[in-house]
Amino acid sequence: MESIQAIKQRFGIIGNDPKLNRAIEKAIQVAPTDISVLVTGESGVGKESIPKIIHQLSHRKHGKYIAVNCGAIPEGTIDSELFGHEKGAFTGATQTRSGYFEVADGGTIFLDEVGELPLTTQVRLLRVLENGEFIKVGSSKVQKTNVRIVAATNVNMFDAIKKEKFREDLYYRLSTVDINIPPLRERKEDIHLLFRKFSSDFALKYKMPTIKLADDAVPILQKHRWNGNIRQLRNVAEQISVLEQNRTISASTLQGYLPNGSNNLPAVINTSKSESDFSNEREILYKVLFDMKSDLNDLKKLTMELMKSGNVSEVEKDNEGLIQKIYGESQKDNYTEEFEDLEVLAIPEQADEDYHSDIKTQDKYHFAEEIEEEETLSLHDKELELIKKSLERHQGKRKLAAAELGISERTLYRKIKQYDL
Ligand SMILES: Nc1ncnc2c1ncn2[C@@H]1O[C@H](COP(=O)(O)OP(=O)(O)OP(=O)(O)O)[C@@H](O)[C@H]1O
Ligand SMILES: [Mg+2]
Repeated sequence: MESIQAIKQRFGIIGNDPKLNRAIEKAIQVAPTDISVLVTGESGVGKESIPKIIHQLSHRKHGKYIAVNCGAIPEGTIDSELFGHEKGAFTGATQTRSGYFEVADGGTIFLDEVGELPLTTQVRLLRVLENGEFIKVGSSKVQKTNVRIVAATNVNMFDAIKKEKFREDLYYRLSTVDINIPPLRERKEDIHLLFRKFSSDFALKYKMPTIKLADDAVPILQKHRWNGNIRQLRNVAEQISVLEQNRTISASTLQGYLPNGSNNLPAVINTSKSESDFSNEREILYKVLFDMKSDLNDLKKLTMELMKSGNVSEVEKDNEGLIQKIYGESQKDNYTEEFEDLEVLAIPEQADEDYHSDIKTQDKYHFAEEIEEEETLSLHDKELELIKKSLERHQGKRKLAAAELGISERTLYRKIKQYDL
């Protein structure tokens, strides 16, 4: 049997925490059997390595390994993705298609975010687990498959069962063996080790000297909660590696990169506030964002018209209402100056020599582009901040964060992936 150390090396797992070692040991022990395994642990703890270890150390290693992100597949297509469909089963099903359970016959399927599976899919999954049988969508023919299932979740499955979102019988069937990966805050000794590893990786990647924590910064790193676990630690290491000129990182510099540190907290949000304060502030923030977005769209419209016509007074006359909306009554005179500056926007396509030789006008043109970009970026940043903040407040529990943000869990999930949170 391969040693735990060798496995860690092979799968790029850093850390010596006894609980992490135990999890890896369990994966090694259970690999040669066909037992279903449920990997549990908070978001970002490193659950995804476990099914890979299990597959690679099993007799199925020459078979297929398919990782399915149950949370990211729309509810309407997940049955077809997993079990396939017959030609004509639904609009757009122009051909018979094999699902993952058919394709991975003889191999392993990793069902990530298994708690997100719709109930109807759970019924189908239970059947495959019990007797290897499944039916394609739109078919009546029972098919057989021999697939090993490893599932993972970062939600509390007992909660999901209590709320009747997850079948209890399926839960027990999936979790014959439960492998728990502890959160980073319970692996204090590993935190600095991981930070050093990521720092050296990013130094290589960005061709810069490796950052190093000052002595007084190390305890701050170790005491932080790391709600986003290793994924968050790696992001912090990356940000610091890219942004800090001084490669020795002091305690206060580090603090600035941690949520609750001064650099990272959106000014209007304060963790000590009550729930309702928070949602009021959120509403205000949303309102500001929507207003900004709407102004931006109006500005885009005006800019386009100016670019097309090149005649400020004509555009001004046609868009009086809009201009007033963006600039307000009192600003009306000032805006004209700004717009006169931007008059050159109409020129690029029919540019003459003068335009190209006039650096000043070219600068203005770029200035207009930058305004637009910066506004968009700040919207993006605010969204990211709100999501981060809400996840922090709810210790990474997506359901609660999604409810608070007023978006569906699925949307939140996609955003987390999109921003690599
Ligand atoms: N022990 C470790 N050593 C090095 N890198 C790690 C370790 N654990 C996790 N990582 C890295 O951290 C990131 C997050 O890990 P992973 O994707 O496995 O998280 P997860 O538990 O599946 O989270 P989620 O529930 O959000 O999907 C990955 O890039 C992974 O490579
Ligand atoms: Mg994962």
